[in-house]
Amino acid sequence: MDHDQLIDLTRRALKLARDKSTDLAPQQYAVDARDYTSPERHNRDKAMLMSSPQLVGYVSELASPGAYCTKTVMGRSILLTRTSDGSIKAFDNVCLHRQAPVVTGCGTAKRFSCPYHAWTYDNTGRLVGLPGREGFPEVASKSDGLTELPAAELAGFLWVALDPGATLDVAAHLGPLADELDSWGIARWSPLGEKVLDSPINWKLAVDTFAENYHFATVHQQTFATIARSNCTVFDSYGPHHRLIFPLNTIVDLDNVSEDQWDPLHNMVVIYALFPNIVVSVTIANGELFRIYPGDHPGRSITVHQNSTPLDLSNDAAAAGAAAVFDYAHATVRDEDYRLAEGLQANLTAGIRDQLVFGRNEPGLQHRHLTWARALRQ
Ligand code: FES
Ligand SMILES: [Fe+2]
Repeated sequence: MDHDQLIDLTRRALKLARDKSTDLAPQQYAVDARDYTSPERHNRDKAMLMSSPQLVGYVSELASPGAYCTKTVMGRSILLTRTSDGSIKAFDNVCLHRQAPVVTGCGTAKRFSCPYHAWTYDNTGRLVGLPGREGFPEVASKSDGLTELPAAELAGFLWVALDPGATLDVAAHLGPLADELDSWGIARWSPLGEKVLDSPINWKLAVDTFAENYHFATVHQQTFATIARSNCTVFDSYGPHHRLIFPLNTIVDLDNVSEDQWDPLHNMVVIYALFPNIVVSVTIANGELFRIYPGDHPGRSITVHQNSTPLDLSNDAAAAGAAAVFDYAHATVRDEDYRLAEGLQANLTAGIRDQLVFGRNEPGLQHRHLTWARALRQ
């Protein structure tokens, strides 16, 4: 984001904080409780994710040729590689023989030997080794290989299409947000691994927890609310995506500082919701990524939480500090947001009331649900 835009957002955030106000949607908005519980809606949601470009990680996870990483997306194991020409590739991580995952974790390797019977693939997916070859006269090692998925790197992130035959156009998907996301640099910072939450909440309920800060004063009374304002958000939408600015408590001090001295990220957290299931958060100290997937029924979801740090991880103290920041952020989501959401899901599943209400002060929530509904109609 360019400096002028950042200053302008800071002005807007400062005004809201000073006025004890927040950006408002034109009206209240009610959603059907069954959006979170219906198997039919759940299947349509899954189809929506399947047909959308999927952000699966930071480019720093595939820093140089020979690097690989594996990702699980809606229960599907995917292998990503950076090949010798510097381009990235993605494959279903499923062996041609008996469908074992060929590789797990991440690292550097130009060849992958399946742990079951050692069929071996290079990092372009080609089958290059087959022990006991005479047993498989119908396998053509020259042309057979892992199923390739469309893959791209854009805005600093790794993207795949889950349909091998799909066209992956991430630039069209992100529109003007591509340059803005790239500008933070968080996807080139050092990755700190993944933490997974397998939760008894609908995937949309999980996304909802990131779409407003109206709940900070109550749910995060002892944590985020000690540093960030509650019910105070700058909201902007970009097609199916949106950006929220959550001002920190310190922002009101800027009234006494001339604008050319402002250091905006010291006074705000920037949160993006990327359609349909991705949340990105930028702070001065870390870049967070939440990949939120529907589970095997409407009342279950999988959240993969990633974090990156601008610190140099070769320094032990810095590495410990970065790990502590990640642990803290993760524990807050797990023990405060998601724990509370479990109670909502239980009530929704019990079917007591027909609707939930999103206030004018929750424009992010409204935008998420209007966008999903629009996508499902198309
Ligand atoms: S399943 Fe991979 S070699 Fe047998
Ligand atoms: Fe929260």
